[in-house]
Amino acid sequence: MNDTAAHTEIQPEWGGHAPRGARSVFNRIVKEGANVPLFLSQTLVSALRDVGYNHTTSAVCEHIDNAIEWGSTEVRIYFHQHSRRGGRGRPSYKFDVIVLDNGRGMDPKVLRAVMAFGGSLRYDNREGIGRYGVGMKTAALSIGPVLEVYSWQESAAFYRMMLDTESIGNDSKNLVTLPDAEFLDSLPPEIRDTLTTPEAFPRDSSDQDLLTSHPEELTERLGPSGTLIYIPDCDRLTYRSAKSLVEHATKETARIYRRQLAAGLCLYVNNRRIEPFDPTYSLPSARHGKINGLQETTSRIICTPTVDIPESEDSHVTHPVTIRLFRLPIEDWDQQPRKVLKNDLRIYDFEGISFMRSDREVHNGRHQGIVGKWSSADHWWRLEVDFPAALDEAFGVSFNKQGVRPKSYVVDLIKKTIRDELRVVREHIKRYWSQRVTEQAQPKLSEAERRATEAEAMMATLLPQPRPRTEEEQRVLDENLRTLSVMVKREGETDDQAFERVQESRYVVVFKHDEDAAFYSVETQHGRVILTLNSAHAFFDKLYKPLSEIAARAALPGAVDDGDDDESGVDPELAKRAAEALVSLQILLLTLGRTQAEMTLNNADLHPVFRTVRKTWSNNLEVMLHQG
Ligand SMILES: Nc1ncnc2c1ncn2[C@@H]1O[C@H](COP(=O)(O)OP(=O)(O)OP(=O)(O)O)[C@@H](O)[C@H]1O
Ligand SMILES: [Mg+2]
Repeated sequence: MNDTAAHTEIQPEWGGHAPRGARSVFNRIVKEGANVPLFLSQTLVSALRDVGYNHTTSAVCEHIDNAIEWGSTEVRIYFHQHSRRGGRGRPSYKFDVIVLDNGRGMDPKVLRAVMAFGGSLRYDNREGIGRYGVGMKTAALSIGPVLEVYSWQESAAFYRMMLDTESIGNDSKNLVTLPDAEFLDSLPPEIRDTLTTPEAFPRDSSDQDLLTSHPEELTERLGPSGTLIYIPDCDRLTYRSAKSLVEHATKETARIYRRQLAAGLCLYVNNRRIEPFDPTYSLPSARHGKINGLQETTSRIICTPTVDIPESEDSHVTHPVTIRLFRLPIEDWDQQPRKVLKNDLRIYDFEGISFMRSDREVHNGRHQGIVGKWSSADHWWRLEVDFPAALDEAFGVSFNKQGVRPKSYVVDLIKKTIRDELRVVREHIKRYWSQRVTEQAQPKLSEAERRATEAEAMMATLLPQPRPRTEEEQRVLDENLRTLSVMVKREGETDDQAFERVQESRYVVVFKHDEDAAFYSVETQHGRVILTLNSAHAFFDKLYKPLSEIAARAALPGAVDDGDDDESGVDPELAKRAAEALVSLQILLLTLGRTQAEMTLNNADLHPVFRTVRKTWSNNLEVMLHQG
């Protein structure tokens, strides 16, 4: 095969959107033997747009990281919605993303150098957050095709650098180089407008605390140094609405940067200040501290072991990792309304472990390898694992700093360190749980009794009620009810509790164990319909008890709609439906009791008929339920 033949054979099979500049460079290299740059900028810059950031917020976090690292005390994020796109269908908008900080800024030479992929003032520095030299560039291009960086170290002296994927792609030089930073004495008008006018969301502009609403004050307000990242016309945002973008960023950054926020960092998203949210509920200044009605405002720290983890499995160089185990104040918080638990405390939003790298959360989740099998009771404890960037390889942190994939020796070390304490915490929660179930099994009034009592007023025929007119009559009635309450007292109930229950309710359900009796019996005493269920009958064993066992799971703390089965294998949603079915079954029996009471009221002859029906029905039911 001669040279000419080889040249004509090589035909790159590139796609239709391949950058023009890249084609020329590639052809020159292949056909003319031109110099080969190690990185082919024209294609690589587009390929890098696909570096996977989980979410728009995680890409924005790279810029927040940089701002924090370079001394900012105030960082402002904007999702600026600016025009309606034409066309049919659902309206969609264009967004510019801006991250503004008041940190140290960059001098023009540094600014130019750090625009290069890999360009960094802190490459491989393991003392802070950034170390790879790519975050600012890849994160920005992952959401939009153009990145503009403005930086200043003196008021009204802005330097600008730009990366535009399209023009880089069209560049036909072998080696793409960046021009000098451009000097500007003010920011471009579209950026000035964004910084000085309220955003489309939050809708109520009184929720927005602008940097300044006076454009003439802007330069002064930007301060003597700072940096502004501008990503216009973003084409790859996770959401299409300002509301979703802002709300997600608010929720995530409140947790990810909780320590910096608690230490005083002012972070704004669309002009709304972010409060720290601490999923371990241990930072006193975080959001949960401001919720009304909580007796306990912080979780209990159970242990804080430190474990030395080697940089790699066979390395002798180790770094300390601190693990904190917290138990949430279940006794107090479980008494709170569900809305408070879900929306304010957000107990169910977070699961298991928060991995903190250099004081900033990089990952959270259950991590079964460390904590084992998960059940819904596990919403009531938290682990926080603090590791330094020196252990990035051990924890499997990649350059976009979102997520961890700890090596198995790391998993084993952490697991061993907290295993015993975690077991004790889980046992505590389980104990609380089963105690609550016992209490719930003896409610003051069962749901069925309560509903039946409430519905009583709407019945066509009213059952006669004792109406004491004198104090003496009242005393006699109370005495009778007290005697009755002793008869119907439930296990674990005091005399007074039973009396109160009988006073409040027109329906009373009692259980009795009697091998020879029917599965139910009904009588009326002092205006109360008393339904006795026989726990010795097959009806109880085969229908009532199994249903109440499933239903009992619905009352448990942490029985939430997270789509998970708890350890008993009962889906919480199913348990709730079983609880509802149980109430209906009780009501079915209470109405049977009431119907008999109502019918015998004017016709005492019916008593023996009902007795026979009950006896025969019970026998037949027993036989049939025991079949098969
Ligand atoms: N907001 C900022 N203020 C001051 N300097 C900044 C800012 N953002 C970026 N820089 C400079 O740009 C450099 C490159 O930032 P970039 O995020 O790309 O990489 P890095 O932070 O060094 O490492 P990593 O890829 O881990 O984030 C930084 O090292 C820093 O010198
Ligand atoms: Mg960085």
